[in-house]
Formats: sequence, structure tokens, C-alpha cells
Amino acid sequence: MKKTTRSAAQTWTLAALRKAWIEFFAEKQHMQLPSAGLIPAGDPTLLFTTAGMVQFKAYFAGTETPPSKRVATIQKCLRTTDLGNVGRTDRHLTFFEMLGNFSFGDYFKREAILWAWEFSTQKLGIDPERIYVSVYLDDDEAEAIWHKEVGVPLERIKRLGKADNWWGPAGDSGACGPCSELYLDRGPQICKTCNCSDKSACGLGGEGDRFMEYWNLVFNQFHQDTSGKLHPLPQTGIDTGSGLERVAALLNNLDSVFDTDEMRRIITRIEDLTAELRADKTRVVYAPANKEPFRVLTDHARAAAFAIGDGIYPGATGRGYVIRRIIRRAAMFARELGVFEPILFRLVDTIAEIYGPFYPALADKRADIAKRLRLEEERFLHTLDQGLGRLDELLAEHKRGDAKTFRGDDAFLLYDTFGFPIEMTIELAEKAGLQVDMARFEACMEEQRKKAAAASRWKDLTLPADLPLKSDRATQFAGYDSPTGKANALALIRDGKSVAALSAGESGFVILDRTPFYAEGGGQQGDAGQLTSGAGAVFEVSDTQKNGGFFLHIGELKSGVLNVGDEVSAHIDEERRQGLTRHHSATHLLNNALRAALGDHVLQTGSLVAPDYLRFDFSHPEKVDAVALARVEAQVNTAIQKAADVSAEVLPIEAARKKGAVATFGEKYGAEVRVVSMGDSGGLSIEFCGGCHVRNTGDIGFFHITRETSPGAGNRRIEALAGDRVLEYFQESLNELHAKVGAHNERVQRALDGAPVPEGEALYLKNDLPDLAAAALKRASDVLPLHENMEAMRARLQNAEKRLHKLEKETQSRKAGAIFDRADELLAAAESAGEIRVVAGVFADQDADSLRKLGDRLKEKGRGVAALLGATTARGPLLLYMADKKAVDQGLDAAALVRATAGLIGGGGGGRPDMAQAGGKSAERLEEAVAEAKRIALTQLSGAGK
Ligand code: SER
Repeated sequence: MKKTTRSAAQTWTLAALRKAWIEFFAEKQHMQLPSAGLIPAGDPTLLFTTAGMVQFKAYFAGTETPPSKRVATIQKCLRTTDLGNVGRTDRHLTFFEMLGNFSFGDYFKREAILWAWEFSTQKLGIDPERIYVSVYLDDDEAEAIWHKEVGVPLERIKRLGKADNWWGPAGDSGACGPCSELYLDRGPQICKTCNCSDKSACGLGGEGDRFMEYWNLVFNQFHQDTSGKLHPLPQTGIDTGSGLERVAALLNNLDSVFDTDEMRRIITRIEDLTAELRADKTRVVYAPANKEPFRVLTDHARAAAFAIGDGIYPGATGRGYVIRRIIRRAAMFARELGVFEPILFRLVDTIAEIYGPFYPALADKRADIAKRLRLEEERFLHTLDQGLGRLDELLAEHKRGDAKTFRGDDAFLLYDTFGFPIEMTIELAEKAGLQVDMARFEACMEEQRKKAAAASRWKDLTLPADLPLKSDRATQFAGYDSPTGKANALALIRDGKSVAALSAGESGFVILDRTPFYAEGGGQQGDAGQLTSGAGAVFEVSDTQKNGGFFLHIGELKSGVLNVGDEVSAHIDEERRQGLTRHHSATHLLNNALRAALGDHVLQTGSLVAPDYLRFDFSHPEKVDAVALARVEAQVNTAIQKAADVSAEVLPIEAARKKGAVATFGEKYGAEVRVVSMGDSGGLSIEFCGGCHVRNTGDIGFFHITRETSPGAGNRRIEALAGDRVLEYFQESLNELHAKVGAHNERVQRALDGAPVPEGEALYLKNDLPDLAAAALKRASDVLPLHENMEAMRARLQNAEKRLHKLEKETQSRKAGAIFDRADELLAAAESAGEIRVVAGVFADQDADSLRKLGDRLKEKGRGVAALLGATTARGPLLLYMADKKAVDQGLDAAALVRATAGLIGGGGGGRPDMAQAGGKSAERLEEAVAEAKRIALTQLSGAGK
């Protein structure tokens, strides 16, 4: 194969490879299943779907039945542990597609190996001489198949240890086992250029690039539990995985996965965008010198687009934070191409065109994905310039001091003020040869958490007596329509005193002449955001409050110096504001819907509008039942779906009243009031209100009531969510419910323990809920059906759990009965020491109670009995030694026996001479422990007999 240049056609396109894969395994009777989402359904221990097998964990465990015992997939995967390497190397990707074939209790090693060989050599046309394989240390069987059946010479088979040839589990428990990997020899010439430190190790499993692993065949034989213990699986399975982009690169003899056709289309689009977005409008061409930024953008754009498409939105915690890191890292690398504008969102169309044919949902959501990406990029770019400037200064300072460590306080400043994810700072510092002091960074984080907690309690907004302002200089609010604005700092307040300047690290209030920041009022919380000055001052606003006509921007000066009289740029946190407006407008619709459903006696008595939820108190004498709540919720969602205009006007109060605008109970109004109307002539709602609202009811997105309670006599309280918070809420509830149903079905399986399902009992729950909230919630009117669907599932689960509990009890007593009935047989088999019979037995699946009953029964029947019993129980292995009075009199000491043998099962316990017990960890040594106890007991007894 000739090395492909950029313009030359590639022998294998990714599309052709996907097709070949599915066709080949269809010929081998595999059912093709679609890729699962990037959020692993019902597996909270795993951040993302990292392999093809993730969606099949329950099939391997045997707790769910697969639709076919042979399955093939092309799975979208996200792996973010090596994020810092993406761009630097030829093959690291965060997002990639994995080709996989699976067997659940059907074929095993032989077919997996033969088919991997057949596909590699016959379909992909790889020269057999170039294929090397590895097997697990003691896997003679796999080696024999490779060598004797396939004909791979022994010198091309290597045995490797756990690090290379053992796979799984994905997450903290699940299927795992030895594996066998296929490598392609790219030729000795690679060795001359690769960077491996040890040329002799430049082989299979080494770090060199000559032998490139392209397919992993996992032979699932075990289930690893959360404590790390291995249990044989009820049935063996096959899980293979092959990275699509990597295979294509190898087949086309390309150095890098980024040179495969689909990746190249994204790279070309980035080249085009540089011409559009660079200040000098020149087109930057992908070349060895700039490959890192191109690759980072290509990979990160794919990862972010697919993640957002699957409902993982950039955020401050968990999965959302990982996506935020990816987007921010990309934004930083874009600068190396001279691009200072948001760019990822501009790649979404290209990505949707490329992947749409395989992932239609991605194409459907392209507009939403682009919107979210853009918002996130803009937010970050807003401070990135300043942040990078500050970083340069800090690096120079460190260099001057000849430091090896980058100060933790500075890493924290970059994180807290400029939004640099810590991993990004680590990467940038490393480039400059510095290690970040993480211990100090963590300490700063902790300090900040404490401060934030303290600040939220501190609400003293008293103005100092020496405030150099008169009330005629009241702050002008200019933030209904614009998130930004220029303003002058009229006064600064620190520790209750008026000051001329604030310096870095100081907290206080800033009063401006005009501001886009909304000060808390009418239930709506104040805005957060930033004030920056041309001289480099950055004041982080955490809250905005009002005192008289003055707006107090409350927060901390993060860097620089802020003086009275400085001109500042004010910029509110737009995402937060968007949450506030959605929840505020939803509150108005809710108010209206409540009056329609319950009557005109409903008056608003309290309201809280936060960015992420709303609370609404109103006068009503009794609980609002579920039917009425559903009606109210549906009415709000209908109003949202009408996509009606929202407008505001200032009117003389009488004119406002005449229009039918609703006033809030207990509020004082001036001669003129602001009226917010929704729908034609306020048909959906018309209220006196000074707050911030969406422009169109459709912008609210969704509405959902989460709680109805009472804050005090004669009043009711509703808590509800709007917009994305509804999606997030349903996603969390769905994850929880999926996990519960999964756990329930596993319990059923255990309780039945092979017994037939009792007739007429719907014990197993069929789970027909969607995995993704976003898939079920396309329009506001979908909220109620999804909610009802989930409620119905909860009810079924509750019922099934009651029946299951009964069944578990029956199963337990059946098992207990079974050992109970064996008392005679056990006595007959006992060994005697003088007049005492020593009974020993080990049982599976019991509990302490049934074992004790068996002991009592033996004592009752025997007279002169020591019962040395062991069992596996739901809580682990258990030893229970009992002796009757006669045996104790003759020298038997159950407690001593426990002390002597509990160690064998890795546990401890104690008791009295007539009864003692111990729990432990190693069930496989129960037999040994009981045998040892028996040996000692016989000695104890014969000693006493002498
Ligand atoms: N689960 C294995 C892997 O991820 C094979 O699919 O490599």
C-alpha cells in the first residue's frame, strides 16, 4: 500500500468499513443493534460509555435476556482519561467508534478467534504475515487455537500479563476476563522514527509504534463485584472491540487517525474557518507544524457535539464538567491558529453531515447542539484573553524565580476568575516545565467553599453614613434587553465603609451609575457576573441587591485595583439570567393556570425565582390534588407550546388595572407600573412585574411541577422547574428508575434461584421507559405523558416489590427447610469422641437464623452434640459453632474454635463456649475452616476424656 496523501483517495473509507463490519457479522448470524448513548443507562459508576460492551453488562451478568445471543454493534465511545495527549499523538482520541461483536452464552474463544482472523485477512485484506497476536499468560487454549487452527507461528504469538491481556470490568463491577489482541506489524522502518525509550521493548505490549494493536477479543468468564472479587459467570461470553478510526488508518497506511477521510473533512472545514475568522483572513493549512491545534479541534468538536446530542450539557459538575473542560481546551488551542472567535459550534453542521447517516439523532439536534456549544464558547472566551495574559505574567514570574512548582494560589486564581479548568492549567504549566502545587490548589478550593457558605449568610446591606452619593444618583437599570454595558463606579464599600479603591482579594459592594445587573426583587434573585476595567481590574459579582435606589454589586475583586470613578464593562452571567427569565415567565403562567384551575381566590403570597427552580406560594385552603396539579402543569406547557410573544410596557396604574393586570398581594406600587403580558392582549397572563422575562413563551422550553406542600395555614406552595432543568430532572429520575428496575429484576432472579416464576405473578418488570429524557421530551406537551409513564412504572415497581418480598421470604424458608430436614442425616454422618457426636456441615445460600435453627434441632435430637456449621449468606461466609451442655462439660469450647478458625475465612468473631459465630470474606475456605474446627473439637473432647 502506498502512503496516502491528502488528496489521494483512501482505499478504505470509514463508511465502507462500517458496512463491511455489519455485513460480515450478519453472515455469522449476529443481530445488529444500534449504538447506545454516551451516558451509560442505569450505571451511575461509569461516567461515559467507554466500550461496546457497556450497554450489555446485564446480558453478560445474566440478569437480563438479550434479544439475540449474537450481536454486532458500532458503538460511539468517549474516553477522557488521556485528554492531555489528544493532539500530541497520532492516535489518541476522546470520541471514537468501536466495532464490536458479542456472544452471550453462545460461541466462545474458538469462533471469536477464527472470525477475527477471517475478517482481518479475507475482508480487510491484511497480509497474514503482518498479524501478531497476544494471549493471557496461562491461556493455553487461546494459544492453541491461534497456532494449531489458524496457523499463526508461535514466534508471532506473545503471552502478556494482566496489564495487557486482561480486560474489565467497565465501571466498578461487571464482566471481565482474559483477552487476546491482534496487532499489525507496520514494519521495522517505524522503529527508527518512533520515540520509545527502549528499542528492545519495541514490540507487542511495548510502547513503540511498530506493532499497532487493532482488535481486542475479550473472553468473559468472570463477574467482578464491587469489592474486587471474581465470581464465575453463569455463562461465558465474548466481547470484542476494534477502534474504527484506528483500523482505517492502518488499512490505508496512514500515520494518524486524523488522516482518515471523515476526520479530514472536519480538518478541511477548520482550514476554511480560519480564513473566515482570522483577523488577517488568511487560510491556515493543516501541516506538521500546526497539527496539534487542528487535531485538538477536530477531536474535541466531535466529542462535544456527540455528548451534547446525548444530553450531556457543559456544566459545573460530573459529566457536564468533563465536557466543559473539552470545550475550553479546544477554545484555547484555536488561538494557536489565530482564531479568537467561537469555532466549535461552526463545525456542527459538518459533523452532522458526516455522521448523520449513521447517527440520525445527531443530525436532528444539530441546531440545539450548535446553540449550546456557542453559548459555552462565548462564556469562556469572554475571560480567556485576560486569563491567558495573566497566565503569561505568572509563568514569567515563576521563571524569574527559577521555580519548578507553579503556585497553587495562582492555579486557583485562573480557575476561579478566568474559568480555567485545573487540568488545563496543569497542561499549560507542564509545557513551561512547571508542576502545579495541587495540595495548595485544593486548600484554596476548600477555603472558597467555606467563604461562599459564610457569604450566603451575610446579607447586611446597610449603606455607610459617609456614602458620597445622593439618592438622585440612583442606579439606572439597563439590563432588560442587554447583558452588557459600560458604567462608572460611583462608590465602593468595604466592611460597611465607603472606600476610594478596592484591591485584589478584597470583598465589598460596587455601586454603578447604570447596570445590566438585576437586583433581587419581586422574587427574582439578583444577577451574578463580572465587572472589568480597562486597567485590568476583575470584580466577580456573586449577587446583586438593592438598597433604596442603589444597586449593590456584591462580590470580590479578583485581580487589579478598582477605583471610584473608574469606567467598567459590566457583563452578567447570561446562562444564569436565562435560567432566571425562564423560571420567572413560567411563574406568571403558573399563577394564571392556578387561578383558572382553582378559582379567583388564588392570590400570590410569595415567590422565589432562582436560575434553577421556582417556588410559588398562594392562598388556597386545601391540598391541590394530583389531577388538578396535572391540569395546571399541562396548561402551562400548552402556553409554552403556543410560542406567544411576551411584552412589557410601563403604564399609569389605573390603565394597568383596567387591562386586567394582576397585582401581587401586599406589594406597594407607584403611580406608574410595568406590566408584563403574554399572548394576545395578555390572554395567557398579564401581571404587574418589574422582573426579567423570556421574549416568547416558547423560550421557556418545558415546565414541570416537582412538589406541592404547605408553607402555613391557608397557603399552598408549589415548586417547579423550567427549561433545561426539566430535562435534567427527568434524566436524573430516569437514571434512578432504570437502576431501581434493574436491581429489582436482579433480586427476582436471585430469589427465584432457578425455580419457575410463580404463575400469575408479574415479578419481572418490563422496562419500557426511554433512556434519555431528551428523546421523550421534544415538546412541552410531552412532559405530562413522560411523567405519567414514570409514575406508572413506580407504582408497578412498588407492587412487584411487595410480591418479591413475599417470594424472598418463601425462598429463604424453603432453603432453611431443606437443611432443617437434613438433621438426621448429619447426625448419622457425625464422628464421635466419647459420648459426644461432632456434626460438621457447610451449606450454600443460608442466613444466620436458619443455621441457628439447624443447630438447635441437632442439639435437641442428639444429646451430646457439637454442631460445627458453615454457610454462604447474602452478607458473606458465616461460621456458627454450637454445643449442648454435655459437650461443653466434656471440654468443647465453641468460642475457642471460632477464634482458631475464623482467620481462615478472613474474618473474626466470638461468643460463648456453647455458641459462637464469625463472619468473613473468603467463602471458598469455609470447608477448610469447618474441617479444622472439627479436628480441634475432636482433640478438645478427647483431651477432656482422658
Ligand atoms: N471491551 C473491550 C475493549 O474495550 C473489547 O470490546 O477493549
